[in-house]
Amino acid sequence: MPKPGVFDLGNKAKQDARKETARQNHVDLVSSLSSSKASSQGKHGADEKAQESKNILVSSENGITKITFNRPAKKNAISLQMYFDIMLALKNASTDNSVITVFTGTGDYYSSGNDLKNSINDTGEIPDIAVSAKRLREFVDCFIDFPKPLVAVVNGPAVGIAVTLLGLFDAVYASDRATFHTPFTHLGQISEACSSYTFPKIMGSVKAAEMLLFGKKLTAREAWAQGLVTEVFPESTFETEVWTRLKTYAKLPPNAMRVSKELIRKHEKQKLHSVNAEECATIRERLPIEEYTNALRNFLSRKAKL
Ligand code: COA
Repeated sequence: MPKPGVFDLGNKAKQDARKETARQNHVDLVSSLSSSKASSQGKHGADEKAQESKNILVSSENGITKITFNRPAKKNAISLQMYFDIMLALKNASTDNSVITVFTGTGDYYSSGNDLKNSINDTGEIPDIAVSAKRLREFVDCFIDFPKPLVAVVNGPAVGIAVTLLGLFDAVYASDRATFHTPFTHLGQISEACSSYTFPKIMGSVKAAEMLLFGKKLTAREAWAQGLVTEVFPESTFETEVWTRLKTYAKLPPNAMRVSKELIRKHEKQKLHSVNAEECATIRERLPIEEYTNALRNFLSRKAKL
């Protein structure tokens, strides 16, 4: 449905109502997923207010909401609870008074991707794939719909979904120590987080195939050359340079940035939602279970490291 003109008040009111219903549905969804957390995380939007859950840290100051993967002993692998915490943090950041939202990691890794123990239980069995695929779809939808500029400060190696999600970010700053690795085939898995669409679009299909099919690990400079990374900084000055720049960006007029982001992304949004839905349906229906189970068992028995 075309967007009404500024002066088309009747249609605009209808569209606003539809938007509000969609927004509310989204809020309800995330709240229902995270109700246990919601009550403990307090009021949204307070600058200088740090929120903390175990493995995800959320803080907001200088116009920047920072969401930190904080599980360094596990290379910031993303557990199930972290999925819920991130969805809640994004929901809060979308309405707080920060201007931009930034993801980064504690320690030497940005994130080693999905916690592989999410996918297999102690007896070596794979839990319900349909549930995982549904959760993945909801998680990725939160990134597709996020209304403010979303920035990744990639402080170290990134693996799996921590890489594929970058195709949905507005800017990606990387330390020259960072690497970008999507070993899906090695794990009997398939592309997610819209990377089957965003990666070929960003870097061309042959470069995307090298990453997504063959699991080629990129250095930060290679990822920059292929358009996945905005800029690479020397490790020694990375934190200072990036955060100084982000603080400057966070002083820009927020509404203009938000509206521009909407314009840049709006033609893609529906496409991204349908790609996300298709990737998740494929995971549910066509994941090569035997290859997947073997790869997970190998990781758990420490036979495999990527
Ligand atoms: N899921 C679950 N646990 C993970 C993990 C992940 N994605 N990444 C790291 N860990 C855990 C390790 O099992 C280890 O746990 P332990 O101390 O209880 O044994 C701990 O984090 C430290 O990792 P370790 O393997 O000892 O560090 P390393 O520097 O030698 O290797 C990696 C780091 C990331 C290369 C290696 O852990 C790895 O290959 N992880 C799997 C990454 C992956 O496949 N992600 C999903 C992609 S789709």
